[in-house]
Amino acid sequence: MDVLVTDTVLSVQGVVFAYPDGTCALRGVSLDIPRGRKTAVLGPNGAGKTTLLLHLNGTCRPLRGEVKLDGVPVSYGRRELARLRQAVGVVFQDVDLQLLGGTVFQDVSFGPMNLGLAMPEVKERVADALERIGIGHLASRPVHSLSHGEKKMVAVAGALALRPRVLALDEPTAGLEPRAATQLLQVLDGLAAQGTTVVISTHDADIALSWADRLVVMEAGSVVCTGSPREVYAARWTEGYLASGPPAAVQIYWFLRERGLWPEMLPVPTDLRQLLSHLELLAGAGGSRGAERG
Ligand SMILES: Nc1ncnc2c1ncn2[C@@H]1O[C@H](COP(=O)(O)OP(=O)(O)OP(=O)(O)O)[C@@H](O)[C@H]1O
Ligand SMILES: [Mg+2]
Repeated sequence: MDVLVTDTVLSVQGVVFAYPDGTCALRGVSLDIPRGRKTAVLGPNGAGKTTLLLHLNGTCRPLRGEVKLDGVPVSYGRRELARLRQAVGVVFQDVDLQLLGGTVFQDVSFGPMNLGLAMPEVKERVADALERIGIGHLASRPVHSLSHGEKKMVAVAGALALRPRVLALDEPTAGLEPRAATQLLQVLDGLAAQGTTVVISTHDADIALSWADRLVVMEAGSVVCTGSPREVYAARWTEGYLASGPPAAVQIYWFLRERGLWPEMLPVPTDLRQLLSHLELLAGAGGSRGAERG
């Protein structure tokens, strides 16, 4: 059971989707995305993660089923889609599909300008977005001259400048060095803390475990399990669906639990540091028992 008690911003209900060549990518997907929380979608290649994210801002339209924003079914007229995309920003995995060119400043201002905002407001939003992502120093650089990681940051800034209520990012940390990945996740933390709903897809089990409030595990176009990271990783059957394998902290937890060495009252560790502090606790308890016996 999911312990998260919150309201739903986006709801996907019984969505079936096939690409024009007939490939069925979603086979009746239902899930609720909790408002103001951080959701991570996991699953092997081809599971349907990208296709699911593309349904959140109406880039893909369900063949059957529906997507609801704040309880209202999404419609696919031009004006309705524009409104939806203001509320739900999607950052593609392939940044070259997202970036339009020119300087970083011009690229990030494209969205706010398209909203018809006055120039001072556009400038304020762009500066704010660049600042939050920590790439203010790149503002006058041509986008095409940037590294992959820098382009990724620009793409996120472009989405942020629209001030969406929901920000969905497809494998945002793929190709980023660990420090840049951590920095980006911190930016997303900050957004979530201020009430933005953040959804990412990822193959990184460590990120899913330590960063997300809620996990959605997909396989072959279906959702096989949802829950808090602790719930998902406590259930050993989920292992088969976690393409990159469970995080080391979880593997050690399973190892100890199966040998009766992990007390029920201790939760699943969400990273190595937490595992080590739990182990320290256990070692301390064992040590004092040993001393009593002696
Ligand atoms: N443009 C397309 N045309 C036809 N089939 C597609 C297209 N894009 C994706 N698919 C198919 O839809 C299914 C789901 O793909 P999707 O890209 O959503 O998976 P994914 O979970 O994001 O995978 P990955 O981890 O590799 O990014 C796969 O079978 C894929 O081959
Ligand atoms: Mg994908």
